[in-house]
Amino acid sequence: SRKRFLVTGGAGFVGSHLVAALLEQDADVTVLDNLSLGHRAAVLPGAKLIVADLSDAQAVDDILSDGPWDAVFHFASLSLVGESMKLPFKYLLENGVNGMKLIEACVRHKVSRFVLSSTANLFGTPERIPIDEAVTIEPHSPYGESKFMIERALHWANEICGLRSACLRYFNAAGADARGRIGEDHDPETHLIPLAIDAVLGRRPPLAIFGNDYPTPDGTCIRDYIHVEDLADAHIRVLDQLTHRSVRYNVGTGRGYSVTEIIESVGRVAGRPVPAHLAPRRLGDPAVLIAGAESLRADTGWSPRYTDLDAVVETAFRWREAHAQGYDDRKLAEPALA
Ligand code: UFG
Repeated sequence: SRKRFLVTGGAGFVGSHLVAALLEQDADVTVLDNLSLGHRAAVLPGAKLIVADLSDAQAVDDILSDGPWDAVFHFASLSLVGESMKLPFKYLLENGVNGMKLIEACVRHKVSRFVLSSTANLFGTPERIPIDEAVTIEPHSPYGESKFMIERALHWANEICGLRSACLRYFNAAGADARGRIGEDHDPETHLIPLAIDAVLGRRPPLAIFGNDYPTPDGTCIRDYIHVEDLADAHIRVLDQLTHRSVRYNVGTGRGYSVTEIIESVGRVAGRPVPAHLAPRRLGDPAVLIAGAESLRADTGWSPRYTDLDAVVETAFRWREAHAQGYDDRKLAEPALA
């Protein structure tokens, strides 16, 4: 019979791409999203969108009691590392506490499988690169800590209540739907690739390069950029692991690119150089984050289909070029971006 899935935060960047992949498999998909950061138009036709907040216990109960659910995917989250350094309790409460309440409700409603959108921010400044699952966890911000709180709750939900879970610690989610239906639209936008694309399209001022004196070959920070469709694929593949046990995996390509290399790639895709200038370091940026995703590959057979950086950037570029105002047409009425 048709599989049924609940996706919290399914109107956000990564969640909406998982919804697309689930629909591709002819699953019955319900999205729970408060649309504070997500977009109605990011939820593809075919999925059912319920607009509600995770803090609304009644709404969460109503949805979960409409089961059975084959799995719950939990993406709904605040995700600005910098903001969490200013407003720690916003993150610890909205992400951490609401996430735990969702898990408790899943246990009560006898959900058997839970997949968490977690983060490489758990590793702070890692003791070794690539970062494998055995690296010490030392959340680098209240944002990372809030995800770790949820991971710990899932640990006990597994031990005591039998809820099987997968914690997927993403590195840098990038790109967009290959068919151009959905893409990345954050407000405010803080991520390197969309900002570089906007700069080359003349929609924003030149890109600020945050520091070129890091201990890396060209002095700029190195990150592991994983295509959002490959990320979605990882979420689906881990489900088979959850029959008898819980798992946690790092999800990245295992290859890193510097800020300079990203800027060059965006320039190649756009056909002209990205206007950019050097700026001071951004607080809290580790020099290098690269995933060791060997366990995910070995256990599930997953491997990234996008292995070429320009191919990743191209999907992001195409969507952004076609959506000057992101998903929201109402923004057209507002003055140009500062
Ligand atoms: N960068 C610039 N200029 C910009 C924006 C970014 O030079 O205008 C640099 C950053 O300093 C960093 C790199 O580009 O070195 C990537 O920055 P992003 O903001 O795109 O991504 P981060 O690596 O900082 O953060 C991402 C997610 C977080 C997550 C983290 C985990 O956005 O949610 O990965 O590694 F916690």
